[in-house]
Amino acid sequence: MTVHKAKMTIDKEYKVAEIDKRIYGSFIEHLGRAVYEGIYEPDHPEADESGFRKDVIKLVRELKVPFIRYPGGNFVSGYNWEDGVGPVEQRPTRLDLAWATTEPNLIGTNEFMDWAKLVGAEVNMAVNLGTRGIDAARNLVEYCNHPSGSYYSDLRKSHGYKEPHKIKTWCLGNEMDGPWQIGHKTAAEYGRLAAEAAKVMKWTDPSIELVACGSSGSGMPTFIDWETTVLDHTYEHVEYISLHSYYGNRDNDLPNYLARSLDMDHFIKTVISVCDYMKAKKKSKKTIHLSYDEWNVWYHSNEKDKEAERWAKAPHLLEDIYNFEDALLVGCMLITMLKHADRVKIACLAQLVNVIAPIMTDKGGEAWRQTIFYPFMHASVYGRGTVLQTAVSSPKYDAKDFTDVPYLESVSVFNEEAEELTVFAVNRATDAGLEMEADMRSFEGYSVSEHIVLEHEDHKATNEKDRNNVVPHSGGDAKVCDGRLTAHLPKLSWNVIRMKKQ
Ligand code: AHR
Repeated sequence: MTVHKAKMTIDKEYKVAEIDKRIYGSFIEHLGRAVYEGIYEPDHPEADESGFRKDVIKLVRELKVPFIRYPGGNFVSGYNWEDGVGPVEQRPTRLDLAWATTEPNLIGTNEFMDWAKLVGAEVNMAVNLGTRGIDAARNLVEYCNHPSGSYYSDLRKSHGYKEPHKIKTWCLGNEMDGPWQIGHKTAAEYGRLAAEAAKVMKWTDPSIELVACGSSGSGMPTFIDWETTVLDHTYEHVEYISLHSYYGNRDNDLPNYLARSLDMDHFIKTVISVCDYMKAKKKSKKTIHLSYDEWNVWYHSNEKDKEAERWAKAPHLLEDIYNFEDALLVGCMLITMLKHADRVKIACLAQLVNVIAPIMTDKGGEAWRQTIFYPFMHASVYGRGTVLQTAVSSPKYDAKDFTDVPYLESVSVFNEEAEELTVFAVNRATDAGLEMEADMRSFEGYSVSEHIVLEHEDHKATNEKDRNNVVPHSGGDAKVCDGRLTAHLPKLSWNVIRMKKQ
């Protein structure tokens, strides 16, 4: 059997950037069963006194998600935030036109802030720039962040929240370039609105940071022109521009599917170029960073969703059941974003519970981990510190849409304080293991503490509530000897090689 060979050099002096913990963010939208029957199910045996499922909280904590985008998504473009605050019995039931469902508004801003606290995450709040505008946006900032002594801050206090929520990061709408968006706009229309909303939101609270909507995918016909125009209007008002990507193995071509993270890499590099072009054009000292605030695999549920009953409450929507190959691509996507840690400061796995999610729940029943749970958890738990500029030389292959795809996709993260070095690596080869050798020259005294491997004979294997089929093991053979790390990466595998100074 063929075995591929790859070489790396890892040096602690060659740094890309310190990782912003928000790169391990996620997303909860009022969509399908993400909120209702997902995080909130008051009749569930595991519900706490507020109706939040404790079993779900436990799994979210396992993922160590530090940052959660809310409340949408497409939903936010038709959302009146005022509907979700104050006494629950007085809140209106609304039609959500984005997903053709009925929104009962049992959970809103304050309840979500409470839940986020329970899972240990900051909230990334999105404002509605679809049907609403600068007035609703600045009022929401005042409601959430102003201490007291004004109409909206006192309204919050009257709702039982004496202390301000102090939300730091805000999204200026969602996917405003998409014709499917409620209140879809041209780049110039959005750019002007976003700039004016940003201005008054920051006048209300100068400590906040803002994300402008970039393109909702690199395949959008307006991609690049959109970013250029939007940044032309908003450059001095915002800190980030967003990127969204979803992939699927629609034509069942695994080598090509696993190469999709190269598309993500290209997307990131292109958006960086546009940001830096605008920086030069504006003669600005400020650098715009990237917020990859929606990314994942999404395609398994597409057909089923066409049959969804209109105006249902908490219907089963976007409930992709992920397989092992999806977990490998998610691993490659995480590595790709980490390699750009100098510019990608925020990323949100879309989404977190039930809707294209690592965590699934049954109504009244169990909560369980999908295959993609594992690479995300490993990166979030072990990938804290500084990304190192690792020199990698790997054999390559050509696929349908990509040439020169490296079999080895990897990134090294150094946690200086804990004296830990972690290598995340995917072997994309469908038929061959990969012998990896790394020169660890500056890591004297380090040895392998664990080599975690996620592998499976059947790349279509999935997890189900009572069948945890795709699970990682710690039986990898990585070792350090005479300053060299060697490891065998099984064909089609996700690997986490953890090293520590002895
Ligand atoms: O995450 C699901 C949807 O994907 C979001 O609502 C939207 O922003 C994107 O199109």
